[in-house]
Amino acid sequence: MKILVTGGLGYIGSHTTVELIKNNFEVVIVDNLSNSEFFILENIKQITGVSPKFYNLDLLDFKKFDQIVKENKIHGIIHFAAFKSVSESVLHPVKYYENNIISLLNVLRAMNLNGISNLVFSSSCTVYGQPDTLPVSEDSPFKMAESPYAYSKQVSENIIKDVSSSSDKLNAISLRYFNPVGAHSSGLIGELPLGVPDNLVPYITQTAAGIREELSVFGNDYTTKDGTAIRDYIHIEDLARAHVKAISKILSCNSQLYDYINVGTGIGHSVLEVINSFEKVNNLKLNYSFKERRNGDIKEIYSDVKKSEEVLGWKAVFSLNEMMKSAWVWQKNIKNFRNIS
Ligand code: UFG
Repeated sequence: MKILVTGGLGYIGSHTTVELIKNNFEVVIVDNLSNSEFFILENIKQITGVSPKFYNLDLLDFKKFDQIVKENKIHGIIHFAAFKSVSESVLHPVKYYENNIISLLNVLRAMNLNGISNLVFSSSCTVYGQPDTLPVSEDSPFKMAESPYAYSKQVSENIIKDVSSSSDKLNAISLRYFNPVGAHSSGLIGELPLGVPDNLVPYITQTAAGIREELSVFGNDYTTKDGTAIRDYIHIEDLARAHVKAISKILSCNSQLYDYINVGTGIGHSVLEVINSFEKVNNLKLNYSFKERRNGDIKEIYSDVKKSEEVLGWKAVFSLNEMMKSAWVWQKNIKNFRNIS
C-alpha cells in the first residue's frame, strides 16, 4: 500500500515515515522544508534502507499537489504539514489560518478528485483547552480555543467530520496528540526547532548543550504537586506507531469510518519531573530558574487512554526517562548532520 505523508520530513512525519516503511508501506513524502531539513531524508534511508520518493512542495500549490497524487496512485494520506507554534500563531493568525486550513482543503480536494478515501489527520489535545475533568477523554467538549493554532485544529477536525458525513467518500481518523518528545533510538532523526524553541524539551536539551544560557520554568505557583504545570509527554516513536495503527485500521475497514482519538500515555508529569528525569538519566546539571507563568498555558492536562487501546489496539510503552535519554542523544548528534548536509 502506498501512503502519502505530507510534512514527512518534519518531527512527527519523519518518525512516522520510518515506522510505515518498517511495516512494509511504500511512502511518498511531500514537504516544503519550512520546518525541516533535507538531511532527514538521507537519515530515513540510513535507518530503513529505503529512500522514500520526495517532493519539495508547498501544499498551497494545489495544481502540483494534485498532479503528485494522480501520478503516484496513492491509497491513503497522513496529513502532518502545518504550522505548529502557539506563540507565532498569536502574532500571525492570518498566516496560520491560511497555511493550516487551505492546506487541509487542498488535501481533501485532491483526495476527492483522485478517488482516495483514507485519511489520518494530525490534531492536538489543544482542541480541549483546559478540560473540566482529568484524564481528558474524547467525550470532552472543545473549549474556547486558546490560540489561532488551537482554533485551526478545531476547525480542521470539523471540516474533516463534515466531509466524511457528506456524499464525498472519506474515511478519517484525527489523532489528538499530547506532548510529543524524544527522538528515534538510532539517534539519526529527531526534532529540529527553528530558532529559539518554544517547547520545553528542546529548550532543555539546548540549555544542556550550551546553546541557551538558562531554562526558564514558567510558573511554580500552580496548584499541582510541585507547583509546576503538568503535561502528558509521549515518546515520538510511540506516537509514530499510533499513526501506523490508525492508517491500517482505516485501510482495512469496509464501512464508512470517522473517528478522533487521543494519543497520550495517561500519565501527567510536571515540568520539574521532566527536568529531574533529564538530569538523572544523562548525569547532567541543568541551569534553570523559576519565572512568571507563560500566557495561555493551562495548569494540567493528561490523556484518557481507553479509546486508543480499544479502537487502535495501541498503547504507549516508553517511559519519561527513555524520552529524556533519546532527546539528549539526538541533541548531541544534530551538529554532525548539519555540517554534512
Ligand atoms: N515550559 C517551560 N519553559 C520553557 C518551555 C515550556 O517551563 O522554556 C513549560 C510550559 O509552561 C508548559 C510545559 O513546559 O507548562 C510544556 O510546554 P510546551 O511548550 O513544551 O508544550 P505545551 O503543552 O505548551 O504545548 C504543546 C504543543 C502544542 C499543543 C499543546 C497542546 O507544543 O503544539 O501542547 O496542549 F498545542
